[in-house]
Amino acid sequence: MTKVLVSDPIDKAGIEILSQVAQVDQRVGLSSDELKRIIGDYEGLMIRSGTQVTSEVIQAGEKLRIIGRAGVGVDNVDVPAATQRGVLVVNSPGGNTIAAAEHTLALLLGLSRHVAQAHASTTAGGWDRKKYVGNELYKKVLGVVGLGKIGSHVAKVANAMGMEVIAYDPFISADRAQQMQVHLSELEDLFAKADYITLHLPRTSETENLVNESLLAKMKSSSRLVNCARGGIIDENALAQAINSGVIAGAALDVYANEPLSEDSPLRKVNDGLILTPHLGASTAEAQENVAIDVAEQIRDVLLGLPARSAVNIPGLSAEIMDSLKPHLQLAETLGLLASQLSGGQIQELEVRLQGEFAQHPSQPLVVASLKGLLTNALGDRINYVNASLEAKGRGIHVLEVKDEASRDFAGGSMQLITRGDKGGHSVIGAVFADGDLRITSIDEFPVNVSPSRHMLFTRHRDMPGIIGKLGSLLGEYNVNIASMQVGRRIVRGDAVMVLSIDDPIPADLLVAIHSIDGIQEAHPVTL
Ligand code: NAD
Ligand code: MLT
Repeated sequence: MTKVLVSDPIDKAGIEILSQVAQVDQRVGLSSDELKRIIGDYEGLMIRSGTQVTSEVIQAGEKLRIIGRAGVGVDNVDVPAATQRGVLVVNSPGGNTIAAAEHTLALLLGLSRHVAQAHASTTAGGWDRKKYVGNELYKKVLGVVGLGKIGSHVAKVANAMGMEVIAYDPFISADRAQQMQVHLSELEDLFAKADYITLHLPRTSETENLVNESLLAKMKSSSRLVNCARGGIIDENALAQAINSGVIAGAALDVYANEPLSEDSPLRKVNDGLILTPHLGASTAEAQENVAIDVAEQIRDVLLGLPARSAVNIPGLSAEIMDSLKPHLQLAETLGLLASQLSGGQIQELEVRLQGEFAQHPSQPLVVASLKGLLTNALGDRINYVNASLEAKGRGIHVLEVKDEASRDFAGGSMQLITRGDKGGHSVIGAVFADGDLRITSIDEFPVNVSPSRHMLFTRHRDMPGIIGKLGSLLGEYNVNIASMQVGRRIVRGDAVMVLSIDDPIPADLLVAIHSIDGIQEAHPVTL
């Protein structure tokens, strides 16, 4: 039976969904060695942020098909290693947006009114009303770094609370920001102007230690900083120093460079002005249920052979695209498979030409599907939509894309694959007819009109009397049944192609015999 390992605490709603299709083993708190030892038994792995899915874990996961991250950040998964092995990585990009935004707001309010410190003082027997005089957020400037899903929800609520919101996000247009009543700013200006700064960007090599000593020094001494995004974006030593020396008024952190926060972290030694929570941003009952359902449904679907809606490592292949392009993707894969078998040798270049209506679709999924087909014979089950581009790159296959919307060969457009390699080049064209039927419409520039079938034979020959009869008789001698046959030629008695759909594969000695027929220049058995 299919098995899924759940190695972090996951809401029971997710476990119930996984149990519909798999045996679910919940093993929270595994060491990395234990995880490596057992992962080989599982087709699926479901995690939160606690499990580190390293490349060693992925290599050990021989049967692994999908890793589901119940949350947003996939920084605890070695996504390139998963892609290389053809393992799909899915997440829940929106399931905890509100939870993380509300935790940010709680920290902003908690910071401005010293809630945590006043609570600690009061429970310890104190009654200090002077020390904990706070500030209002109303009319203050909030600087949002990263105006994505969480950042924009925080901005919306902050606007409603009467704050002036400015933001730094190099990937958001001024128009989009304006719609959210947010003014875009440069990063240093934001740090200099804002009374409160909140981070909502991913941790990447670019954002690591982005908030360092020099950026902290730009802040006003009355300003405060919140990080509910990812640890490692702030230099923690520099932050502790900035609060202790009064460079800034305070900070609230939910995430840390290393989690759990080490006992000797400098952050534990900051006297006042700092609120620390143990990565609670997504920890609401509602968010945990949302992400568990979202990710468990995707794991279930993928194990059933259906597409996932939030695949991290197949960019551009959302469920909607997969659905609307289904026959086109199937055609691309079929043509790739056909082209690789016609070419035989090592392919160095693939040119994908999308014509007419085909050119109106996003090209990336069609190119990926063509590559999957092209590499299927070489890599078998190992090739899939996740790793096709990477495998092609690794083999030095250069990919070219050409779109020609004006071409009107077929009502629904057509797709052409041209391969160039050490054994020469081939061209195949196909189309999707109105009823969803796939057709191969040209082989090496010879017009044909055939439906792809499991076993086929393609020949290049001289158009001369008797050759078709000879081939037919030979196949009969070997008990290979012909389902259909078609000849394509450009000029009478010139070069021609023959396409046969056959019920059985061509044995090796038959292929030798076919090659010996006078006039046959090439013969390629193809399995689709
Ligand atoms: P998102 O992808 O919707 O938004 C991220 C935004 O950051 C994007 O708009 C992007 O353009 C911007 N960005 C990327 N690089 C940037 C840079 N160098 N400078 C400025 N902006 C940059 O993501 P989201 O769902 O809003 O999540 C934001 C962060 O919150 C992520 O790091 C996520 O992992 C984290 N998160 C934390 C918790 C928690 O429990 N604390 C919960 C959910 C999400
Ligand atoms: C996330 O990226 O979704 C959060 O960090 C929440 C979690 O811990 O899962």
